[in-house]
Amino acid sequence: MASQLSPFSLLLSVCLAIISHLVINCNGDSDTSTAQVHIVYMGDLPEGTATMTAEVHTNMLQQALRRDASDSIVYSYRKSFNGFAAMLTPEEVKKLAGMEGVVSIFPNGKKQLHTTKSWAYVGLPEKVVKRSAESDIIIGVLDTGIWPESESFSDEGFGPPPQKWKGSCSSGSNFHCNNKIVGARIYRSAGKLTSNKDVMSPRDTQGHGSHTASTAAGNFVAKASMEGLGKGTARGGVPSARIAVYKICWSEGCYDADVLAAFDDAISDGVDIISISIGGTKAYDYFTDATAIGSYHAMKHGILTSVSAGNEGPELGTVTNVAPWLLSVAAITVDRKFVTKVKLGNGRVFKGTSINTFDHGGKMYPVVYGGNAPNSTGGFNASMSKDCSSNTLSKKRVKGRIVLCDSVNSGEGPAAAGAAGSIMLAQEQQLVASNFPLPASTVSGSDEISRYVMEKRNPTATIFRTVEKKSEASRIVPGFSSRGPNAITPNILKPDIAAPGVDILAAYSRGKTATGIEGDKRVVSYNILSGTSMACPHATGAAALVKSFHPNWSPAALKSALMTTASPVSRDQNPDAEFAYGSGLINLKKAANPGLIYDAREHDYVEFLCGQGYNATEIKLVTSKAVDCSDVGKKIHAWNLNYPSFTLSGKPGGTVKRVFRRTVTNVGKGHSKYKAKVMSSKELKIKVNPKVLRFKDVGETISFRVTVKAKLKKSGIVSGVLVWSNGSHKVRSPVVAHTLQ
Ligand SMILES: *[C@@H]1O[C@H](CO)[C@@H](O)[C@H](O)[C@H]1NC(C)=O
Ligand SMILES: *[C@@H]1O[C@H](CO)[C@@H](O)[C@H](O)[C@H]1NC(C)=O
Ligand SMILES: *[C@@H]1O[C@H](CO)[C@@H](O)[C@H](O)[C@H]1NC(C)=O
Ligand SMILES: *[C@@H]1O[C@H](CO)[C@@H](O)[C@H](O)[C@H]1NC(C)=O
Repeated sequence: MASQLSPFSLLLSVCLAIISHLVINCNGDSDTSTAQVHIVYMGDLPEGTATMTAEVHTNMLQQALRRDASDSIVYSYRKSFNGFAAMLTPEEVKKLAGMEGVVSIFPNGKKQLHTTKSWAYVGLPEKVVKRSAESDIIIGVLDTGIWPESESFSDEGFGPPPQKWKGSCSSGSNFHCNNKIVGARIYRSAGKLTSNKDVMSPRDTQGHGSHTASTAAGNFVAKASMEGLGKGTARGGVPSARIAVYKICWSEGCYDADVLAAFDDAISDGVDIISISIGGTKAYDYFTDATAIGSYHAMKHGILTSVSAGNEGPELGTVTNVAPWLLSVAAITVDRKFVTKVKLGNGRVFKGTSINTFDHGGKMYPVVYGGNAPNSTGGFNASMSKDCSSNTLSKKRVKGRIVLCDSVNSGEGPAAAGAAGSIMLAQEQQLVASNFPLPASTVSGSDEISRYVMEKRNPTATIFRTVEKKSEASRIVPGFSSRGPNAITPNILKPDIAAPGVDILAAYSRGKTATGIEGDKRVVSYNILSGTSMACPHATGAAALVKSFHPNWSPAALKSALMTTASPVSRDQNPDAEFAYGSGLINLKKAANPGLIYDAREHDYVEFLCGQGYNATEIKLVTSKAVDCSDVGKKIHAWNLNYPSFTLSGKPGGTVKRVFRRTVTNVGKGHSKYKAKVMSSKELKIKVNPKVLRFKDVGETISFRVTVKAKLKKSGIVSGVLVWSNGSHKVRSPVVAHTLQ
């Protein structure tokens, strides 16, 4: 089709397509028709500029490009950092890249929500304490918006927002803010909506944003459940805190230009913590990644950004959000599982996994194997229909029957064919309970079902409603959660921490059905979902809780408190060890009283950036701080950033030795003595000097050195632990050595 079009008509159609998004001048200027949204990042706001206007960017662009640029600018970032997003042709990008003041130019990439398909919830300790310090905390949630009518976001009992709040509320689609949802803005650089599932308002029509916001800061809601499943009190980490909504994600994904615009606003609006459960499919250089750039400026303003590690696991090196100023969160299971029993006509019962709110009431249905029911009119054969993917099943053969599938699928295929239910065979025990649009269960570890269905003349089965059970498989990092090592800075451990991210119950959008799949009629106020997207807001809530006790702590201090107090996770059950769970599972009982913290301020990150290989010119732009990297560079290595974990890497099979320098601040009792304890092994030797830290005052800092010698395996990870203990308090840091890929 395309080959029949003349180059002219191709250009024209591109041009028209662009016009429908953003008005640009296409008249006779074939050049600009190749224009696409790019982000021009120019670092910190110029010093001494109290208020910058958008004209600065228009003028700059006009002078550089010698054309009318007033319609090209999509966003002007000027509240919290400097830059803009604009429609630029490849030639224009080249021209601008060489300009003074420009740190980086990158295309308006698209990121995705970090949810897997489905989901249980184990909350934080359920003690209702209303604390006024908590109600002064504002959490900025960059996501798909929010469902304002949810009980989780009711403002009953809330006073007006804290004085510091400068944000605003964009209404539309009957959307209104209240004293719980104190602000809401929307960002859409991709122009007109392309799906009728989206609305141009902060209203959440996808469910993800309501879920993450309520996990971080939702009210206590007693007896919340998804159609009776997961029943319990739904609550956020800080139920009295306020929520500010920044809608950056749409049906097709989340654009970088929008992410940056949301950071620019959130920082100046006065949020305390930022939660962002999105990411790309790989790690990006810090200066060309919207999340890394936005969160750097947030950090400068004392705001911690908590982010999902990614759902790209289980392969090593898949963690996507890796900047050291981010809190990168992995997902882990809790002690609850969802069991869905299947009973065959011969009386045999199998325990499967899923979220099945439907009930066959014990009625037996005929069973058909997907491989025997291809949608041949649609051109599908048996080898395609055995997995029951969308469109592959024949309505005639499947309608009213339970369909047996050779693998776990979304349920869209069986639902479209009118199946009464679906039994999905899984290779291994499913850690994640998926939610399907029809009665369904995923069953593993047996070929008995297949044999019964193939060999029996009139096979029958029934699927029971899901029941909750206590799980033995708690504290396991599921396969989807992205793993370290950190692809950009191998000597900083990522992910940082693990938090509940499997089968989490939280608020949902009533603007969508439970699965969003055709045929599903269930509209629910609470839904059970899984993903690092669900883990991130748990860490956000935990960080907000610590901040409510220590309002002046830096983002690094909050991070350190969460990481050094995290509960150890079993290495035997998680072969990827720290690459899967970082410092361990967040522990809210201890996080607010860590004893010691590993603090870091902007100048520490500036030195880190030198160590990372950025030059003085680039760093000055980002941070507006003059720095001589060549001077600093001799002493500074990325691994000497005052981080609450220790990581070194080297060649496979070799030996690597490194001296780490760290400084801890006493945030506990004035007079205290901490002794170093290490857990090392034959492969990993750890020495600490000095071994004892004696503090006289609160706020006092003491430096020490950690010498690590590691014999590296052919691949993978060897690890140990450094613990500073005063007798009752343990300040724990993982020590990790790994081979460079
Ligand atoms: C089914 O169709 C696919 C794609 O057309 C083909 O590769 C495959 O060999 C077919 N399988 C059978 C069993 O006919
Ligand atoms: C069979 O395939 C056709 C063509 O892809 C599709 O339109 C139809 O919906 C399919 N039937 C079912 C039941 O999925
Ligand atoms: C700094 O790095 C940038 C980007 O790599 C390069 O263009 C510039 O010339 C470098 N400046 C110095 C002083 O080395
Ligand atoms: C250890 O430090 C913590 C935090 O400052 C303090 O609460 C605790 O009492 C200390 N324990 C001892 C035995 O000194």
